[in-house]
Amino acid sequence: MIDRISAGDLPDKPHIGLYGPNQALRHEHCLTRAGFDGPFTIAYRVNAPHVHREWGRSDHGWPAPVPADDATTALLLRRHLDSTGLPAAGGAPIDARVPLLFSRDVVLSVARPDRDDPVYLENGDGDDLYYIHAGGGLLRTLLGDVRFGPEDYVFVPRGLTHRFILDADVAQHWFVIEALSDLHVPKQFRNDIGQLRMDAPFTHRDFRRPSFFGPLDEGVRSIVAKRDHRYTRYELDHTPLDVVGWDGTVWPWAFPIRAFQPKTSTVHLPPTIHGTFAIGGGLVCSFVPRLVDYHEGAIPCPYPHASVHCDEVIFYAHGNFTSRKGVGPGSISYHPMGTSHGPHPGAYAGSIGHTRTDELAVMLDVFTPLTPTAAARAIEDPGYHASFRPDARAAR
Ligand SMILES: [Fe+2]
Repeated sequence: MIDRISAGDLPDKPHIGLYGPNQALRHEHCLTRAGFDGPFTIAYRVNAPHVHREWGRSDHGWPAPVPADDATTALLLRRHLDSTGLPAAGGAPIDARVPLLFSRDVVLSVARPDRDDPVYLENGDGDDLYYIHAGGGLLRTLLGDVRFGPEDYVFVPRGLTHRFILDADVAQHWFVIEALSDLHVPKQFRNDIGQLRMDAPFTHRDFRRPSFFGPLDEGVRSIVAKRDHRYTRYELDHTPLDVVGWDGTVWPWAFPIRAFQPKTSTVHLPPTIHGTFAIGGGLVCSFVPRLVDYHEGAIPCPYPHASVHCDEVIFYAHGNFTSRKGVGPGSISYHPMGTSHGPHPGAYAGSIGHTRTDELAVMLDVFTPLTPTAAARAIEDPGYHASFRPDARAAR
């Protein structure tokens, strides 16, 4: 959904015959969104994509998010989740996600996988955006390979056949945003013909596109399809990576967060300037190292605000975060709507005179309330809400 790509063998028009050796008719596979109204890609395959030899319930998959069952879950408390406390040996990526916060629009998880996916996944529940806090590897998809590494966003469109192949001997730590409606570039970043505007905070060149390889048989015959947090296994007689060509705007990509071009003003601008990707019911923002506000009287630290319409989640990746104390790499803060929030005591005044920040973080503002899971409560810093008292010391 960035722009159009075409690769491999294609007929002159959609929906006319494409033939391979021995006049073998290729099978069209239309990857459409919003019914038939949205972006689409048309792939051409050696085999019909909808024919399965066997099927049944799959044992793969991550748990469906459910609310933590304890007395404080419903309270409007600021929370700090330390995702480094989650097990580092999480299994394959398809099994490794640990949902921490969820709403009807989004599921936020952390995954720390330690082995390759043994099957292909098709996530029918939503678009997946991974922020690679640590690790790297290869995203192998129907439409080609996308290499990724630390500080990359990795995007897998809903329903795309894919699996992850991990770099050896590297610890993996991923923050995962499962957007249950969709993810796209904010409309205001595009001009009338859909090109990214010259004043958008990134360019077409910043996206790492899939390297298309043509048909590939890895020996994997299983696809696991996820819908409504349930998993169905399909067995095939052939490799599903049998695409000979494709054309369209739905494709996987990687985007290095440091390619985001931050804006700075004389005085502090709202977090919308960090907006990077839009999701249904929310905005994904990138905080990257930058010069800060340069009015002679500027307060560079974010101002306290009544966040009545959005929950705020920040995944802290690197650097010294201006407004918060007691958080470190791998921390996730969650500040719920309905109660005012802002910087830690001392941070507001202490920021005066600062000329730059080296913070690196992913933030989400979401417009439906999130709920913590039991896994979130298990890694929660119990002193975080109290750390906003004027006399409090930060937890670390
Ligand atoms: Fe906020």
